[in-house]
Amino acid sequence: MSRVALLIEGNQKIESFYMLNLTTWVGLDSIPKRRTEFAIKLLEEGQTKIDLIICRNKIEKEDSAKAIIDYLKSKNLSIPVIIIGAGRTPEGAFAHIPNSLDLKNVIKNSAKALNITAQEMVGKIVPDFFPIPIQYFTHLKRSVCDVYSTDFDNPDKYIIRINKLAEYTAETITTMISEGVDFLYVDKLDRLDFVNNVTNELVTMMEQTELEEDERINASEKSVELLSQKLKTIGINEETITLAKKSMENIRGNIKKSPLLAKLIDRLLSNKTSYLFKHTQVLTFVALHIIRNIDWGTPEQEDKIAFICFFHDIALENDQQGMIKSNLELKKSNFNTREKSLVEKHAQIAAEMVAKFPHAPMGSDQIIRQHHGQLNGMGFSEHYGSNISPMAIVFIIAEEFTRIILAREFGPFDRPEMIKELRQSFTTARFQKTVDLLESITF
Ligand SMILES: [Fe+2]
Ligand SMILES: [Fe+2]
Repeated sequence: MSRVALLIEGNQKIESFYMLNLTTWVGLDSIPKRRTEFAIKLLEEGQTKIDLIICRNKIEKEDSAKAIIDYLKSKNLSIPVIIIGAGRTPEGAFAHIPNSLDLKNVIKNSAKALNITAQEMVGKIVPDFFPIPIQYFTHLKRSVCDVYSTDFDNPDKYIIRINKLAEYTAETITTMISEGVDFLYVDKLDRLDFVNNVTNELVTMMEQTELEEDERINASEKSVELLSQKLKTIGINEETITLAKKSMENIRGNIKKSPLLAKLIDRLLSNKTSYLFKHTQVLTFVALHIIRNIDWGTPEQEDKIAFICFFHDIALENDQQGMIKSNLELKKSNFNTREKSLVEKHAQIAAEMVAKFPHAPMGSDQIIRQHHGQLNGMGFSEHYGSNISPMAIVFIIAEEFTRIILAREFGPFDRPEMIKELRQSFTTARFQKTVDLLESITF
């Protein structure tokens, strides 16, 4: 019999992807309640055995987590409580995860609270066709894998209903619901990809106002991850254009929220974002600083550099790929042939995408193509041609400075020393003049 979590969360989207992740990773069934009073009512009735409570710290004005812990104490009930969301940690909690989008931590602690080991989680027996409540499909326009339903006359037989990556309408799903379909199924080998994708879709749908400050960083990261995957599968279309615009806004929003670079880096670190995301976020910060201080800088040029920073590495898939910066490193890496070719061509691939992006800033595709010093966007070079554009110089300097910053991300940030290191790589006057503008960056 599966174990049951009582999930007290005021936000429907979070509730939704929590439930899906808890079943998929920990094998937990969840009963969702939007407020503590409804959860207490369920506990009072005593009909359902609850193994774990996951509760938002504060829902609207109410200290929900404290209220549920106080209730459990008054009844001498010893159900572990995991608290999610910022604020003070009430006494008696099993764990407190201030950033509710830190799903890995939520899953890890849920398993720990129930004495489920990592081995048990991995070794869990999963049916060949993994059931997904049909409601989740209403949030999607397409599925990352084939989707099945059981045959009405023969429940042991699975028939394909939605093809991998094929676009479907909301009507398709409502029709199935009216036919009495409660669950759709994915191949068990596809289930983690599927769940990850639905989670990213739901997180990306969240408005900034629904998120606490730290959570916004994770939401931005997830939306870039989602975009990168979508560009690979469906390319530039209305959906990816909207998502790209939203993600770019988020990245600039994060900079506005943390005008000091050290604070921004601190938030990126405490939220354990990927190297690729940290790189894009810090790079945008540094490049915008240069444009704001350069004599030819205008708001249009700010938009252009932010656009270039956002897209330049969008074709890369993971942090290992993002750390490669020379042909030799690429050759020595243990990537397979496909990955090697992707890293080699990533500048060219991104440039081709950007060329199709409507109203992309003029010439941004060219700078992206050449961001590793090769005119055709293939491979890496340390030598930049003498006819390189001023904007390309800004980008190259910003990227190298970002690399220097992230190499010592835990601080301290000794600006003169870091700038000295930067100057050693770029000896010509045009480059040095751009480096000068970093003397005023504040950590
Ligand atoms: Fe990069
Ligand atoms: Fe790159």
